[in-house]
Amino acid sequence: MKKKLVSLLTVSALTMAMLAGCGNAAADTATQTAETAETVADTATDVAETATEVAETVADAAPAGDLADKKVGVCIYQFADNFMTLFRNELESYLVSQGFSKDNITIVDGANDQATQTNQIQNFITQGVDVLIINPVNSSSAATITDLVVGANIPLVYINREPDADEEARWSSNGWNVTYVGCDARQSGTMQGEIIVDLGQETVDLNGDGKIQYVMVEGDPENVDAQYRTEFSVKALEDAGWTVDCLDDQVGNWDQATAQQLVANMLSAHPETEVVFCNNDAMALGALQSIEAAGRKVGEDIYLVGVDALTEALEDVIAGTMTGTVFNDHIAQSHGAADAAINYITGAGNEYYIGCDYVKVTTDNAQSVLDSLK
Ligand code: BGC
Ligand code: CA
Repeated sequence: MKKKLVSLLTVSALTMAMLAGCGNAAADTATQTAETAETVADTATDVAETATEVAETVADAAPAGDLADKKVGVCIYQFADNFMTLFRNELESYLVSQGFSKDNITIVDGANDQATQTNQIQNFITQGVDVLIINPVNSSSAATITDLVVGANIPLVYINREPDADEEARWSSNGWNVTYVGCDARQSGTMQGEIIVDLGQETVDLNGDGKIQYVMVEGDPENVDAQYRTEFSVKALEDAGWTVDCLDDQVGNWDQATAQQLVANMLSAHPETEVVFCNNDAMALGALQSIEAAGRKVGEDIYLVGVDALTEALEDVIAGTMTGTVFNDHIAQSHGAADAAINYITGAGNEYYIGCDYVKVTTDNAQSVLDSLK
């Protein structure tokens, strides 16, 4: 499993200069990196690497006898989230494969309410679980959550919603058994932008005015994934020397139906839209419904990108009804979180940040990504 220790300096340097896409006028004139040769070969390598990492992880795992009586509490911010559903199902089956008893794994639904989740954490503490894996409802509540859990002397693995740099710095400076397992959302935003850049400006600039007219559909703005994807997708176009024109930028809260409504309105107000950026695939699927309802055709008179590589989105990329997506590796992340939990239980300990890579998905490699997930 790849582990990247991000230094405190790096972490604070990364502290968000978050701007919504619109109003971000000045286009950076940076040289276009030669990213055009992202192909099936890369994907095959990435998938093979993941498989190797998983195999190594399995080999590293503690003997089943040590884990069978250990209790794991898992808090998910909201069960009604397509991506987190894939994540939690994989997490549970992997924990069982590593020797935990299914009866000792409790996974609870925070129902997108921090007060509910905080109660659930308190209940887990009262029950005396051996480790907690938490996908916070509000990343900004992480300090409170950490204090509660560390105060009860229980190791803590954060997943999916990364706490801010100040919070992460507290774990290392206090030597606490707290870590974050996840991918760097800036990478996913950059890859979304590169998928568009790789098509070539003449292709994407449908009205030939020398600018790319785009709309942005954002996830929950509390979530750093939404902030970074919004910023870095557009930045990739600017870094390629393209001029962008943000027509609208709205919050779709990671939700398909919300995004469908937003994009319907956006397309009727701005028929000149050339690119629809969605911070995740659920919202891209909603956007596609409205694109089709407006009589538009992805790949011909509009371009659409998401993130996650949900099965349905991969099928759309293969069919050409989505331009591309970015694989948000729920397998590597859930296994990494489980491995970190095991390392705390066995006393091996963990670094304070455990990263993984996103994978760019276009028509070239969508089928092989889909096959690798079966
Ligand atoms: C995923 C979204 C998901 C969100 C939940 C993101 O990394 O891309 O699909 O809704 O996490 O926090
Ligand atoms: Ca244009």
